[in-house]
Amino acid sequence: MDNEDTVKLIRSKTDIVDIVGERIPLISRGKNYFGLCPFHDDDNPSLCVSREKQIYTCFSCHATGNVFTFLMNYEHKDFYDVLKYLGEKTGVEVRGRKRGTSNTKYIDYYNAYEFSSNYFQNNLHTKIGAEARNYLKSRGLDEKVIKDFKIGLSLENNDDLTKLLTKKGFELSNLNNWGLSVNDYDIYKDRIMFPLFDITGKTIGFSGRIYKDSDQNKYLNTRETVVFKKGLILYNYHRAVEEVRKMHYVIVMEGFMDVIRASTIGFNNAVALMGTALTHEQIKLLKRLSNNIILCLDGDNPGKKASLTNGELLLKEKVEVKVISLPKDDDPDTYILNHDQKSFQNLIDNAMLYSDYKMKYLKENTNFQSVEEKTEYINAILKEISLLKDEIRIQIMLEKLAKEVEIGYNTLEKRFKSMKKIKPEQVVKFGPKKKKYKDKYQKAIEQLIYSMLTEENIILKVEKEKLIFPEELQRLIINEICYYYKKYGTISIADFCTYIRDKKELVEFLNDILVSDYQEEITSEELQEYFDVIRENAKNLEIKRLAKKLEEIPDPLEQAKISEKIRKLRIGEV
Ligand code: UTP
Ligand code: MN
Repeated sequence: MDNEDTVKLIRSKTDIVDIVGERIPLISRGKNYFGLCPFHDDDNPSLCVSREKQIYTCFSCHATGNVFTFLMNYEHKDFYDVLKYLGEKTGVEVRGRKRGTSNTKYIDYYNAYEFSSNYFQNNLHTKIGAEARNYLKSRGLDEKVIKDFKIGLSLENNDDLTKLLTKKGFELSNLNNWGLSVNDYDIYKDRIMFPLFDITGKTIGFSGRIYKDSDQNKYLNTRETVVFKKGLILYNYHRAVEEVRKMHYVIVMEGFMDVIRASTIGFNNAVALMGTALTHEQIKLLKRLSNNIILCLDGDNPGKKASLTNGELLLKEKVEVKVISLPKDDDPDTYILNHDQKSFQNLIDNAMLYSDYKMKYLKENTNFQSVEEKTEYINAILKEISLLKDEIRIQIMLEKLAKEVEIGYNTLEKRFKSMKKIKPEQVVKFGPKKKKYKDKYQKAIEQLIYSMLTEENIILKVEKEKLIFPEELQRLIINEICYYYKKYGTISIADFCTYIRDKKELVEFLNDILVSDYQEEITSEELQEYFDVIRENAKNLEIKRLAKKLEEIPDPLEQAKISEKIRKLRIGEV
């Protein structure tokens, strides 16, 4: 079986509706399935998945493709990895890595980090690592955790790693730029090393923790490099992906130690921010994991504030946010250490809705003796209530507030209604893409291409017509369709998508057609009309071309010939 056959076989054994449905809730409507599009900030199901055609299309951001492109984009994997994954699922063997499409640009960077990580891990298990091992043990981290999170140790000698890496052929200037060395020296000295992974699980940075008495910073992190950008990653994302799918929610924590600890009691669906406020990119990643997010930040004041700001950001993105308030001296790590799995599960089960959390927070931080603070409080709560959608809940909250602040319900309600009226429209950050203008000729050609992919018999009819297509991309794609059909004797959009996957311009052109709402089926009269329109277009273009030539050519005899040609074209004699 050649590579292309394997690809087709795996595709045919896979149902895109299942694959997408395992990741995003889909509802069936007519022939198709709909869900929130994971490729843009969607709050209204615009992703359409077709079982019949085995493709997906987003009406809003125009993402489109088949099961392979879906998984590649959704899980940030390359084609080969997706093929392998689906191969395993469908019981089809995938041999060799034939088409290397993985990101080779930073391959040296990844290699240097992989090498360093192995080196650190090895150190931890040598004689010199005894004290560090004891430290980890004293924190209750066993061999399995050390292995799962690839924890290691950097040594006191300050140029061991740099020497090794340069010996392996890495250039010192690169090691400096990549945050592994400064001049001829190692950056990390005598620290417990926690690799920081990108969302696919590759090591792209480190955080080194002191483990002896020291007046240095507790953690030393890789500075931002061409690859390592703190705001673009979530610690443990790659491990959490599968787990979140099973558990249907993701827990967000502050530090990676918290996440590591959570994993020891079976919560592998946690990710860490590593001491920053959520960035837009991280929110996108979280949304990709799940629409149910539980914030479980430190119990101290900064942690509470962070719950508030991060919760606010998430709520704006229309995800369901819940918040856990830990005792004030705890972070998830210490809480779990001092309690047990059940207690933590209990916290999860009783996590507060963000709106409730915020109201509780506001209440705790208001001095009700002060008229100003009390008024501010009432306004803030009314604003929170105005964000709610459930009318019953709104009513209950208003009643509760009225009692609490001892103000008549009617007064509050009046205020509430006037507030709701001036509520500004939600700003659309990622509005739908504008449709490009297409004239009737272009539309006819694209409809024809679409129909060739949905009704095979049209391919032969098109070939017979010997039409002239004005644009190169149109000609290319039609050639590819005809070639594919001849070779395999059959064609489907989903397979054809994969067949042309390496030809970027063709993929873009096809995608544009797929999101443009062309007719599913056309009658033979319509087909004939399209042929006519395409011929008319070709004729017009030819006349235009000749007219231009006419202006440029000085020879009167030639001019006369061209004029005659134009005339014949116009009256339809050629
Ligand atoms: P914490 O101070 O809460 O760390 O910082 P922690 O998770 O409790 O760690 P342990 O239990 O003391 O080992 C949370 C996050 O802030 C970043 C780290 O990413 C850490 O995971 N941080 C903290 C630093 O980058 N540098 C520091 O000096 C401290
Ligand atoms: Mn801690």
